[in-house]
Amino acid sequence: MARPRIVLRDPNRFKDPANLSWERYVALQARERERYLAERATLPEDALAYRTVSPRYLERAVDQFANNYYSELSATHYIATAAANAPFDELKKCCLFQLADEQRHLEMDAEVFHRAGIPERDWLPAWEAPGTTCRFFRHVLELEDSVEILVKANFVAEGAAGPGTFAVLADGAEARGDLFSAVNHRARVRDETRHISFARALVKALIEDDPANLDVIQRWQDESLQLFVEVARGGARREWWDGFLGSYYKIALPLGLRPTALPSF
Ligand SMILES: [Fe+2]
Ligand SMILES: [Fe+2]
Repeated sequence: MARPRIVLRDPNRFKDPANLSWERYVALQARERERYLAERATLPEDALAYRTVSPRYLERAVDQFANNYYSELSATHYIATAAANAPFDELKKCCLFQLADEQRHLEMDAEVFHRAGIPERDWLPAWEAPGTTCRFFRHVLELEDSVEILVKANFVAEGAAGPGTFAVLADGAEARGDLFSAVNHRARVRDETRHISFARALVKALIEDDPANLDVIQRWQDESLQLFVEVARGGARREWWDGFLGSYYKIALPLGLRPTALPSF
């Protein structure tokens, strides 16, 4: 069966909520970078060398590091596809700025792996193991339609992994002595918030353009959340999963979407 597609008939309905130009974007990124480096500079050398965490923490955290690193790596690829195939320039611009953000996040997460002393050969197997975000991102990487990519990856996945879950991740890492991951999560969330808001503006424009688009968006939401279920299977990451769905429904339900039927744990 052919994949359903959505076309925004009136592209003027979509405006970048952050109202960024190249000049404004570069200035904003420079400020972000300065803030990040200042926060990182407050971390003790021992924390940056991962001597403040237990060996057991590191063993278990490899999964989480892989979820962080490979979702950012995937993001650099799928958002480049979305930019290349963008149906109008305002959307292409948002995708291109996001591409630069995701590259920065990717480098932060690679540094975590290196500083924690995890050999590169262990990274990919950790992500391909059951219970990670791998299945969802591999699905998105197969897509070519910009609107479908942005609805699934930015609106659903980033909307879900938004402020709530990054706060859980940051606090959890900090409580276990992983101060570097905590600083990274708090830095990343400021960009992700912008990615979510332009995707939300796109979804809103699509529904206003043609209310029948809501059904296709609902279907994309259901497909996406079902691919994420395994991350919470067996009750692992319960707190994370509740925050994940909670963050997403907070933005999706007011737009007329319904909760997805998911197995309970
Ligand atoms: Fe990111
Ligand atoms: Fe993002």
